[in-house]
Amino acid sequence: MASHTAAINDHLALEFQASHTYLAMSIWLREKDLIGFSGYMLEKSIEERGHASKMIAYLVDSECEVQLPTIQSPEREFQTVQKLFDTVYSMEKQVTESINNIYSLSEQEGDRAATAMLDWFIEEQVKEESEARFVLKRLRLADSNTAALILLDQQFLDGTLLANIKAGGAFNLGAGGGGLGLGNGTA
Ligand SMILES: [Fe+2]
Ligand SMILES: [Fe+2]
Repeated sequence: MASHTAAINDHLALEFQASHTYLAMSIWLREKDLIGFSGYMLEKSIEERGHASKMIAYLVDSECEVQLPTIQSPEREFQTVQKLFDTVYSMEKQVTESINNIYSLSEQEGDRAATAMLDWFIEEQVKEESEARFVLKRLRLADSNTAALILLDQQFLDGTLLANIKAGGAFNLGAGGGGLGLGNGTA
């Protein structure tokens, strides 16, 4: 097996482990009645399985063997919501590092199909890290203020907390963007 396809197989463990860990986080948050946070982590858990699926599809379509990994049982207790998101952020950074490594290997192998597939992941990881960092910063601002935590939970439920980031509109300088109001929509 080529080094990059072996690395893709190894990487599947990170995606599945993230999915499993995010599910454990979703359960813990639900137990604390933080249903907005819980729903968000459940969504992330499902997304991570989707990421693994994309890589599996590439391997199968390229006639490379798929070796599904063993997944560790995740922690089921988290000290605080902020500590939980510290873990999310560091897991995402680890995934980014692994994707970058696979990208370099694929370039060395001259496998354009692999780099094309990985381009999506490169962009996705920028968004994932940005999201995790944003939530973490909000949690740091909230500190141990329960009212602030409940407000953030409600914003997850309403879908407003990450709306601006997800729309990629934070720096929309062009026509009609909501963004930071830098565009007036008439340009
Ligand atoms: Fe992922
Ligand atoms: Fe992720």
